[in-house]
Amino acid sequence: MSEVHLDDFSSLFSLNGKVAVVTGGSRGLGLHAASGLLQAGCSKVYITSRKASACEEAVAALNALPNKRPGAQAISVPADSSRMDELDRLVAEVNKTTDHVDILFANAGATWGEKFETHPEHAFSKVMDLNVKSVFYSVQKFAPLLSKSATRESPSRVIITGSVAGIGVGSLGENATFSYSASKAAVLHLTRNLALELGPRHILCNALAPGFFPSKMASGLIEKQGGVKALEEESPNKRLGRPEDIAGAVVYLGSRAGSHLNGATLVLDGGSVLKSKL
Ligand SMILES: NC(=O)c1ccc[n+]([C@@H]2O[C@H](COP(=O)([O-])OP(=O)(O)OC[C@H]3O[C@@H](n4cnc5c(N)ncnc54)[C@H](OP(=O)(O)O)[C@@H]3O)[C@@H](O)[C@H]2O)c1
Repeated sequence: MSEVHLDDFSSLFSLNGKVAVVTGGSRGLGLHAASGLLQAGCSKVYITSRKASACEEAVAALNALPNKRPGAQAISVPADSSRMDELDRLVAEVNKTTDHVDILFANAGATWGEKFETHPEHAFSKVMDLNVKSVFYSVQKFAPLLSKSATRESPSRVIITGSVAGIGVGSLGENATFSYSASKAAVLHLTRNLALELGPRHILCNALAPGFFPSKMASGLIEKQGGVKALEEESPNKRLGRPEDIAGAVVYLGSRAGSHLNGATLVLDGGSVLKSKL
C-alpha cells in the first residue's frame, strides 16, 4: 500500500490569520477575490483603488459578510497604483496596521479599445504603465513586508492578474486592444521572472489569466462582441466567469494547497483560449 501523508487536510485551503492586499479591490475581480480571502480566514484584507468612496463601499460590504472570521477586517487604503509616490504611500499606510503582508493580489488594470489607425499613444502608455510597470513596482515596494514572515514552509504569495488576451490575441477591429493584449502577455512573463527572483526569498509569484468576467471593464467589450449569451455559447463550457471562479483561484494560490506553484499561469476561461479561429 502506498504511503499517504495528508494529515492536515482541514487547513490545506485555509488562509487563517493571513494578511492580504488587493489592488483594484474596490469592484470586479479584485472585490470577488477579497470576498474569498476574507471568507477563507484572512484576518486583514487591505482594499486599494483610486476612488476613496469606492474603497469605502467595498470594505463596508466585505465587513458585512456573514462568513468572515471573528475580528477579521477589510480596510480601505485608496491609492493610485500607477504613481510611484502613491505606491510608497500605500505601503506606508498598510504598514501602520500590520508588520507584514502574506498575500499581494496585484490586480488593478485598465484597457483601451480603438482601431489600429487611431490607437492613441497616451492610451498605449497608460495601459502599459498600469498593467505592467505598476505591477512590478507594487511587488518591489511590498517585498519587504512580504518577506517579513515568509519561510520555506510558509511562503508569501504574489498573485498577478494577467488575461487570456496575453496568451491568444485580444480584440481586433474597431475596438482593438493592442496595448492591453501586449501588456497582459508582458505581465505573464514578468510573473515568471519574479518567480525566479523571489522564490528563493520565499515569495511565490503566480498569475491568473481570466477570460471574460462581466465587470465594469469587460461589459462594454462583451456587448460589442455580441453579448453574454453569444459569448457563453462560444465558450467550451457554455458560460462566462463568475465571482467564485476568481475567489476559488486566489484562495488556492494563497493557501498551503498552492504552495508548490511558482511562475504558473492559472487560466480561468472555461477553455475558450484553446479554440483556434483558423
Ligand atoms: N473582467 C474581465 O473579463 C477580465 C478578464 C481578464 C483580465 N481582467 C483583469 O482583471 C483586472 C480587474 O479588472 P475588472 O474586470 O475587475 O475591472 P473593473 O471592474 O473595471 O475594476 C478595475 C479595478 O481597478 C481599479 N483601478 C483602475 N485604475 C487604477 C489605478 N490607477 N490605481 C489603482 N486602482 C485602479 C478600479 O478602481 P478605481 O477606478 O477606483 O481606481 C477597480 O477597482 C484587470 O487587471 C483586468 O485587466 C479582467
